[in-house]
Amino acid sequence: MKALVYRGPKSVAVQDVPDARIERPTDVLVRITSTNICGSDLHMYEGRTTMEEGRTLGHENLGEVVEVGDGVDRIRVGDRVCLPFNVGCGFCANCERGQTGFCLSVDSDTPGGAYGFAEMGTYAGGQAEYLRVPWADFNCLVLPEDAQEKENDYVMLADIFPTGYHATELAGVSPGESVVVYGAGPVGLMAAYSSMLRGASQVLVVDHQPDRLRLAEKAGATAIDDSDGGHVEKILELTSGGADRGCECVGYQAHDADGHETPESTMNDLVASVRATGGIGVVGVFLPQDDGAPTELTRQGKLPFDFGQMWFKGQSVRNGQANVKAYNRQLAELIHHDRAKPSFIVSHELPLDKAPEAYRSFDDRDAGWTKVILKP
Ligand SMILES: NC(=O)c1ccc[n+]([C@@H]2O[C@H](COP(=O)([O-])OP(=O)(O)OC[C@H]3O[C@@H](n4cnc5c(N)ncnc54)[C@H](O)[C@@H]3O)[C@@H](O)[C@H]2O)c1
Ligand SMILES: [Zn+2]
Ligand SMILES: [Zn+2]
Repeated sequence: MKALVYRGPKSVAVQDVPDARIERPTDVLVRITSTNICGSDLHMYEGRTTMEEGRTLGHENLGEVVEVGDGVDRIRVGDRVCLPFNVGCGFCANCERGQTGFCLSVDSDTPGGAYGFAEMGTYAGGQAEYLRVPWADFNCLVLPEDAQEKENDYVMLADIFPTGYHATELAGVSPGESVVVYGAGPVGLMAAYSSMLRGASQVLVVDHQPDRLRLAEKAGATAIDDSDGGHVEKILELTSGGADRGCECVGYQAHDADGHETPESTMNDLVASVRATGGIGVVGVFLPQDDGAPTELTRQGKLPFDFGQMWFKGQSVRNGQANVKAYNRQLAELIHHDRAKPSFIVSHELPLDKAPEAYRSFDDRDAGWTKVILKP
């Protein structure tokens, strides 16, 4: 089968790989019809992770079940399914608690598995014609009859819609509150959108990409351009002294408008932008080690973080991988009943063959490249 394979920093190629197949009785095989490129793929694409050369990327997957293992009870051939990016077993202590982003049964050294992801097991990605889905009864979200009509909405349930929602959950967004979101990439836009679904009174989105800020405004948020500094003061002014809640949707490759990386900038800006006793949710990825980071400290995964300021303000900070299964069923209902339309961020639908060009343009943050769906 054809698949998009990581070849090394800034190099990916569509090539023939061994067919995905049922390996255990609890697996199903899915023919992929939509698979997104994610900001997380860019960390790997840029060579800023331990991603091994030769692995297939792709963790935002949706398709049709074409084969089921002997031990599968619930899933049928022909089902249209969206797969959470997390691979979870359903029976470990963390999965039992709903923390499927930290599954203890996956083939990874640390808790948490994902398709086509560095440090999260050896599962192949879904930017390919077919995908093997482990523990399929647990992992597959079976979609309703409008699955194909709303495919571009439902595929956002694999990651970014639940992840954006998770940021608002970690931050504790309640009706009537103000929220500041750092990052207007797909995840930040979904955090802003989720804040509105949760009844926020005011949603501010910070970035320096004009096209993404425009999209945030189109979705009903207030865009804050951080190109020339002064954004924190602007936020304090607009929220009368600080937003109730803040979401970090950028991660360890945060940078200024000139592209200089400042990994600590968004966390420190959040501490400054959120009111005393407010909540901060961090879904942007941070790593325990990053050889490409700008300073000795940050190369060890440590941030010069304004801990004293945060403590003084009595803020709470929560973070981590999104537990997609904790939200995807409810968010699917919102899509099904026309209460949510996350596909508003999609800018490109392309065949798998065009994936290398799409990676290049999305990585360069070329104007207008907000979210790419590959259609193998
Ligand atoms: N926790 C999870 O489960 C989870 C899931 C998906 C993605 N992620 C992570 O979320 C992050 C965002 O993902 P994405 O797909 O939106 O990525 P993206 O790279 O497309 O978007 C990031 C945005 O942040 C902006 N940005 C950079 N530095 C900034 C700064 N200092 N202040 C404000 N904005 C800044 C960029 O201009 C860009 O628009 C990534 O780190 C990704 O790995 C985490
Ligand atoms: Zn993703
Ligand atoms: Zn588990």
